[in-house]
Amino acid sequence: MKVLLGICGSIAAYKSAMLVRLLVKEGYEVKVIMTDDACEFITPLTLSTLSKNAVVTSFTTGKGGLWNNHVELGLWADCMLIAPASANTLAKMANGICDNVLLATYLSAKCPVMIAPAMDLDMWKHPSTQSNIERLKSFGNTIIDVEDGELASGLVGKGRMAEPENILDFLRQRAARSDERKHFAGKRFVLTAGPTFEPIDPVRFIGNRSSGKMGIAIAEAAYAAGAEVTIVLGPTNRRPVFAGIEVISVMTAEEMFQETTKRFPAADVGILTAAVADFTPMTKADQKIKKKKGEGMSLELGRTKDILKHLGEHKQAHQKLVGFALETQNGIENAQKKLIKKNLDFIVLNSLADKGAGFQHDTNKITILDKHNNIKKFELKSKKLVASDILDHLEHLWTQDA
Ligand code: CTP
Repeated sequence: MKVLLGICGSIAAYKSAMLVRLLVKEGYEVKVIMTDDACEFITPLTLSTLSKNAVVTSFTTGKGGLWNNHVELGLWADCMLIAPASANTLAKMANGICDNVLLATYLSAKCPVMIAPAMDLDMWKHPSTQSNIERLKSFGNTIIDVEDGELASGLVGKGRMAEPENILDFLRQRAARSDERKHFAGKRFVLTAGPTFEPIDPVRFIGNRSSGKMGIAIAEAAYAAGAEVTIVLGPTNRRPVFAGIEVISVMTAEEMFQETTKRFPAADVGILTAAVADFTPMTKADQKIKKKKGEGMSLELGRTKDILKHLGEHKQAHQKLVGFALETQNGIENAQKKLIKKNLDFIVLNSLADKGAGFQHDTNKITILDKHNNIKKFELKSKKLVASDILDHLEHLWTQDA
């Protein structure tokens, strides 16, 4: 696979070195094109050394006066990746402006184009940037969504370029998605993931340490296999790498209940991975609760609605419903009870007793228990591989029940 990497002038350009390294390590052939401003942030020498190819920075090669043929470069590539893409270059791409070799190559490229923007949060939010993004999508270009976090300006929010590892994952998944094996083409998936935060007052809440990684990995794998995917996501900084996955952000168990139950009737599959709070404060103080000398505090908690149970009760014959169980003891027995109680097709058990499994980890160790009394135990693996084991079982069940 040949990747043409376009680098624009953004502080995120320093991450492009790592990106080239990862791509080369993965077996991609990489050629780099840089804008003038990109060369202020990182040197062409670094990138030519890492990519093992000369870097193109202008239409001609310096003193020799040789022509850098952008049309040939565009034809050479299996995909063009612009990372980081600055607000300036995005605007030019959206409007057909061609005042440097990167833009000329973009205009002549016949291969799929993927764009990983990077900018400050207000630039990202600006309507002109957003309309440029929409325009580029309408041309068939793929946007690798920006990530949330600390920005070079010191502000915190959306605008960071996707991490090089995530861009690589994106390419991998995209390759998988363009494979013939689109087992879930035309199927609609609704997932829940992450924690929920139950407010006590305007600054405090009851929450848990779920990162949403497992649910996001399943959402990405389902999308890669051709599904239309919506993920109802509790408060976490993580986002799926594919901009094509619909993300509905929620805060509380009640919001998650509303958003999920609204969407499930039109779905083929529900996979609920969220660590939903089981209890919520009965009242939320409008103002911050002040401590009083010598006094403790007690909170009255009420039960939240069980989203999974509700979906199980309203499941249609063609729908598949998958739940998760996180147990600390008697795992199989408890998971079996939940499978029946919540009317699931299968349940994924992970035990906190297993090292490397559960919240925050990149790995997980699961057991699948299904409604036909099958029990499958899996080794400790990355959450990505666990996601494909879960989807394999879903596919297996689908065939069996057909
Ligand atoms: N779940 C849900 N809504 C809730 C609570 C849980 O949708 N209000 C879902 C979770 O996403 C998970 C499954 O139910 O898929 C199992 O959740 P868990 O909390 O382990 O099970 P409970 O039935 O709440 O049982 P217990 O807390 O007694 O273990």
